[in-house]
Amino acid sequence: MARLIFELKGVYFSYHGKIPALCDINLNIEEGSKIVIMGANGTGKTTLLMLLDALIFPQKGYIRALDREFRENLLNDWEFVRFFRSKVGLLFQNPDVQLFSPTVKDELIFSLLNLGFTQKEIEKRLSKIVQLFRIKELLDRAPYQLSVGEKKKVAIASVLIMEPEVLLLDEPTAGLDPQTTRDIIDIILKENSLGKTIITATHHLEIIEELADKVYVLGKENKIVRSDYPKEVLYDEEFLLKYNLAHIHYHHHKDLVHTHLPLHND
Ligand SMILES: Nc1ncnc2c1ncn2[C@@H]1O[C@H](COP(=O)(O)OP(=O)(O)O)[C@@H](O)[C@H]1O
Ligand SMILES: [Mg+2]
Repeated sequence: MARLIFELKGVYFSYHGKIPALCDINLNIEEGSKIVIMGANGTGKTTLLMLLDALIFPQKGYIRALDREFRENLLNDWEFVRFFRSKVGLLFQNPDVQLFSPTVKDELIFSLLNLGFTQKEIEKRLSKIVQLFRIKELLDRAPYQLSVGEKKKVAIASVLIMEPEVLLLDEPTAGLDPQTTRDIIDIILKENSLGKTIITATHHLEIIEELADKVYVLGKENKIVRSDYPKEVLYDEEFLLKYNLAHIHYHHHKDLVHTHLPLHND
């Protein structure tokens, strides 16, 4: 068995001690795997990624990550913070939360500067990432001047420039056109083929099969209601409808009404 990157046991988290966002979460995530966290709005996907990124901490249960148990006082251990932040990268759901530098270039190199990388290494990584994402013409622009798709690209690039071993992606393709979606998925899959662990939260059914070896589905009660292979979940129409992950498409063929889920081609 591959090394466990994350181990969660009985994890509970609530906002302000009263709005439960995650209940009794048990998860083992292996190094190098592709995991998708599925769930309708409000089921706890973002909260789960924030817990995995040590931005918040469980109120019950425990999380072990990279062979260390998460505790709030962990953040006082600068050595560990430095180690953890260089190994694990989180793409926020909303790029406006993530992008705060005056220019795209500043944004891309911010974390590298912060972690004390040399100027030479920074230049090398910058030129590599700019080429990969084809964003040379955006470098001097202010992030707020970008389109949604461009913001998302810059946000992902500023995570990948750190070359993390674990990528936490919160709805990476939300709001993107089909071509940009394709480009982003290809970049993510390439990272996985290089051995990186990829954990994606999404309710976009079209991208799940490619991005998952295994899916975990969160339900309304903020619990995992199913852990399964992507195909099993994606072809279980009753399940998808029950957990608000699909809606029925209606087609009119003359006087016949034909229904199907948006995923299928029939
Ligand atoms: N900052 C917050 N303050 C209070 N409640 C929150 C906050 N963020 C999320 N929640 C609540 O926690 C639950 C899970 O939210 P979230 O993790 O954002 O779900 P998802 O990403 O699946 O849409 C929801 O009920 C949501 O309203
Ligand atoms: Mg979310």
